[in-house]
Amino acid sequence: MNTVAYTAFVAFLSSVLTLVSINALSSPDPAAPDDPEAITREALARHDSAESCWKAIHGSVYDVTGFIADHPTSAAVMLAWCGRDASKAWDNKRPGRPHSSFAEGMLERFRIGRLVD
Ligand code: HEM
Repeated sequence: MNTVAYTAFVAFLSSVLTLVSINALSSPDPAAPDDPEAITREALARHDSAESCWKAIHGSVYDVTGFIADHPTSAAVMLAWCGRDASKAWDNKRPGRPHSSFAEGMLERFRIGRLVD
């Protein structure tokens, strides 16, 4: 291989490597502090009481503190799931019985973010 071809090949290779690294560095990090939607499991777990009750349901996080008293069961049913992933409970308010579409529609107003690891 002559010198010109070799130099051109090395130059080409280094531009490809530069592009690959730029792409890797600029990939969005789901837990990045500049992502206001991202809520870690650790943060979720800190809101495990009647004073502040967050629940994750199918990847979204909801602050349902203000709804505990209005939920049509004793508060204990809701409180048992504060600070946790409540997807299974949500899908089985009674075994095999999911919440209604009315309840589903209600969730949006409590949404505060997205669960990340
Ligand atoms: C997190 C937010 C929640 C909301 C907004 C919510 C909303 C509702 C609503 C509107 C109902 C009336 C029935 C219906 O529309 O399906 C209901 C009933 C009920 N929910 Fe929830 N719920 C939540 C979480 C939970 C959790 C974590 C449990 C735990 C198992 C639970 C258990 C029940 C039960 C046992 C009933 C009454 C039984 C029934 O209607 O058959 N809910 N909920």
